[in-house]
Amino acid sequence: MSARSEKNQIVIFDTTLRDGEQSPGASMNLDEKLRIAEVLEGMGVDVIEAGFPIASDGDFEAVNEIAKIVKNSTVCGLARATKIDIDRCAEAVKPAKSPRIHTFIATSPLHMEFKLQLEPDEVLAQVIESVTRARSYTDDVEWSAEDATRTEHDFLCRCVEAAIDAGAGTVNIPDTVGYTVPEEFTGLIEMLFDRVPNIDKAVVSVHCHNDLGLAVANSLAAVKAGARQVECTVNGLGERAGNAAMEEIVMALKTRSDVMPFTSGVKTENIMKASRLVSGVTGFAVQPNKAIVGANAFAHEAGIHQDGVLKHAGTYEIMTPESVGLSESKLVLGKHSGRHAFIEKLRELGYDLGDNAIQIAFKRFKDLADLKKEVFDEDIIAMVDDEVIRTNDQIRMIALEVLCGTKHQPPKAELELEVDGETLSCTGIGDGPVDAAFNCIKELVSHKARLQLYQVHAVTGGSDAQAEVTVRLEEDGRTVDGRGADTDTMVASVKAYVNALNKLMVKRQKTAPDALSA
Ligand code: KIV
Ligand code: ZN
Repeated sequence: MSARSEKNQIVIFDTTLRDGEQSPGASMNLDEKLRIAEVLEGMGVDVIEAGFPIASDGDFEAVNEIAKIVKNSTVCGLARATKIDIDRCAEAVKPAKSPRIHTFIATSPLHMEFKLQLEPDEVLAQVIESVTRARSYTDDVEWSAEDATRTEHDFLCRCVEAAIDAGAGTVNIPDTVGYTVPEEFTGLIEMLFDRVPNIDKAVVSVHCHNDLGLAVANSLAAVKAGARQVECTVNGLGERAGNAAMEEIVMALKTRSDVMPFTSGVKTENIMKASRLVSGVTGFAVQPNKAIVGANAFAHEAGIHQDGVLKHAGTYEIMTPESVGLSESKLVLGKHSGRHAFIEKLRELGYDLGDNAIQIAFKRFKDLADLKKEVFDEDIIAMVDDEVIRTNDQIRMIALEVLCGTKHQPPKAELELEVDGETLSCTGIGDGPVDAAFNCIKELVSHKARLQLYQVHAVTGGSDAQAEVTVRLEEDGRTVDGRGADTDTMVASVKAYVNALNKLMVKRQKTAPDALSA
């Protein structure tokens, strides 16, 4: 009947660099994107959606550079159903060993009427035209029916059939607004297998958003119904509530192969490394109780649980920490710890840093160990995410001096920043020390972003704990979150603000294309 039962290998399509980067607050520079792409390739991801080339020159360059370096994964770019998008995308992915063009158009009545202002037949014509044009550049074309889960079945079948006829080798059925539920989604995929006559000529893919917290469940329900490609992101990053989390999909398939006899090519031991990198680069902290990659995912607090795990890990652990790249912590670091122990700790925590980054990290660690007796895992994570993973920033903090307290009124800050390689300094005052320091930043780097959130939390317990500060800035509807960590709360505050500004610079270059809502 269909291709649904023929293969049990699931194609893992990662869209962290495209849909993930569309999350409000997330942005990555070229170097960061290249590092993420390398990690994704290394972990065995089949398809890397590297960006949306028409969105900005920066996006084009990122897709193009990733296409040049990645050899073992397909490199994909996104394009709307227009000539200009498809041509630009084709140019961006051209250097790839295995290039893919992913073109999409909305098919639901709501999107067609209000967003596209097109009649269904006009949309259908664009499906054929766009896939045909994309096929003129590459044999590997994916077509997506945006808002498929709210599309009329007859029309969805006509579009899917037309896309396959025009040459799409993968047809993607997105739950763009995270609206469907597992049973319904199974039914939708089964319906396509039953009603689209040429469905066996393509791989059916799914792309689920997490608005109702069902993205992973819906993706797996689709796999059971015959889908063989799952689109997902590291840490579930993505528009609004995010996309299906790659680590959850992959570990669910691995752990429950008894009820889901499907495999993926992902080396699960690399999951923590990817998670840490994406979290560090985006500044999006992983919630402690997040499945698979949260700090508590393998922690056992209750006495009865600890007792059980000590007797037999399987009592409360359905997968091993090692299987996702964590190893049991045996090392507590302090000022006497050497480079070797430090590198071992980084590895334990899932970091895989290059020599240069290790050098920087080790120096930071030594500085920290001079200030703190015990350096906990959380300290190292905050430190590495804060300074080591972020590179190529346009603005960097060099020095900060703050005078405040009852004898120093108004509070005064002296700040030195490096901006595009040039050292700038300023003295400023403010209502409080944070205000004074932020006023200095505004003086040195002119911008009109508004501060929307300033939040401090202690990374660990104790009065010598590092402060982790989050700063949210908003400019022309774009928001970014910056993070900074340091034992000095004021230094952490400036680092967080500067981090947010750096991200805003990356975001500024991006012009949100019309009609891209997903
Ligand atoms: O959510 C969505 O519909 C998308 C498409 C562009 C695939 O991201
Ligand atoms: Zn999406």
